[in-house]
Amino acid sequence: MDEKILVLDFGGQYNQLIARRIRELHVYAEIKSYSKITVQEIKAAGYKGIVFTGGPNSVYDASAPHFDPAVLNLGIPVLGICYGAQLIAYMAGGTVCSAEDSSEYGKTALHTLDSILFKDTPSEQFCWMSHTDFILNNPNGFSTIAYTDNCPCAAMADESRKLYAVQFHPEVTHTEYGNQMLSNFLFGICGCIGEWSMDDFIERSVDEYSRKLKGKRVLLALSGGVDSSVAAALLHKAVGDNLVCVFVDHGLLRKNEGDFVEQTFRDRFGIELIRVNAEKRFLQKLSGVTDPEQKRRIIGEEFIRVFEDIAGQLGRIDVLAQGTIYPDVIESGSGDSAVIKSHHNVGGLPDVIAFDEIVEPLRELFKDEVRKVGEKLGLPCELVWRQPFPGPGLAVRVIGEVTAEKLALLREADAIFRQELERAGDTLAVSQYFAVLTDLRSVGVMGDARTYGYTVALRAVTTDDFMTAEWTQLPYGILECVSSRITNEVRGITRVVYDITSKPPATVEWE
Ligand code: XMP
Repeated sequence: MDEKILVLDFGGQYNQLIARRIRELHVYAEIKSYSKITVQEIKAAGYKGIVFTGGPNSVYDASAPHFDPAVLNLGIPVLGICYGAQLIAYMAGGTVCSAEDSSEYGKTALHTLDSILFKDTPSEQFCWMSHTDFILNNPNGFSTIAYTDNCPCAAMADESRKLYAVQFHPEVTHTEYGNQMLSNFLFGICGCIGEWSMDDFIERSVDEYSRKLKGKRVLLALSGGVDSSVAAALLHKAVGDNLVCVFVDHGLLRKNEGDFVEQTFRDRFGIELIRVNAEKRFLQKLSGVTDPEQKRRIIGEEFIRVFEDIAGQLGRIDVLAQGTIYPDVIESGSGDSAVIKSHHNVGGLPDVIAFDEIVEPLRELFKDEVRKVGEKLGLPCELVWRQPFPGPGLAVRVIGEVTAEKLALLREADAIFRQELERAGDTLAVSQYFAVLTDLRSVGVMGDARTYGYTVALRAVTTDDFMTAEWTQLPYGILECVSSRITNEVRGITRVVYDITSKPPATVEWE
């Protein structure tokens, strides 16, 4: 990569968004924690520019993240955002002040002065603020380039050293001209050309891996999810028949999903695919288990065992390929927060199987970039735009003990729900939807006879990031149709309820 920007992470909540915005402007950006990189490494890496991110601290806190001020003397342009802006002020000898009465949250009117950072933006505009601390005295050489009614220095710059600091967040869409500012920084200040694109990515990766993996046999665990599917299609382009994909069908997939994966990869792409139908093995292990975390643990472990067995039968394998993506790379390592669910994707394999090498062709990409690559590689839409599906599959959507009979009921009900929502199309702003088979049975009546069947719950949520989610206000007409179809078509389900809880306090999945 010739041209790249460093997003130096001080713990802010929008850090991934900053990197994505920069990449959308066709400049490659990578995120590094301030504690994992030194000034010497920054210099050696040849970054065209550096962005200091926001962060939750005050610069004078004992535990506040700081960085070697020498970074400001490398001759590399720097843009500090929020905490990053205050840190520049602090590092360069200015003062930062904390005052509750001058804190600003939300959309705020911004007055800008003459600066290349604000080129092609009006002098009165709205920005997004989220701060209590502010820059009280600019360091030597820095002049104020923007202010708000509450904040005398909303942005400052030492233009001769190409150092910029903004108190607001240009990366969020509420900052009207935020993109233009980032673009000014990248192209006007850092001198970037903007050469990062998905076409180049595919070409470069295929080129790189066809050389690197020449003559080697590559094994990939394909789950049918977006990441491993795109990794498979990409690597197949690079190494052709030397790629073998193992698809462990744990029997916990949705209706027809296993066959769809098999058809796509074996028939359409001509990839060597081994499908292991391991439903019995998984159900045996899950027999009598009702605790969700235990289910997850059992499935994760069993997945590795099955994969090991198959890998052992394949003869020589040189390389293990994985569909790790950039957020996985960034997020592994941090992890102080409480475990609500142990979201493993069945994929933690390398510890148990000996390979010479591991390749992760998507480890630089964000999810939306992975999807673009998938589309360009010709993967079907259903796969590229597939909604998230938990690694442990329907096992966490059958409440209580998982049995083949309950799975069959759930699959049918879930398929009907999905069919009806897909028929309604894009008009419904819904991010994820599925059915849950509750462990509750209730009395019903059919014809003149009493029935006693399961209750199915429908769940549909709207969210950007799945950290929080709203329950989706689906039209009654759709709910009515789904309910009537399920109770008519799925023998054994006699009651349908709709989950109207948001996250928090509930989670998206029931288990
Ligand atoms: P929750 O239920 O935690 O779900 O609100 C947030 C998102 O994560 C998915 N999810 C999982 N994904 N393994 C996964 O790979 C898991 O064990 C798991 N549990 C939940 C869930 O579908 C939603 O998209």
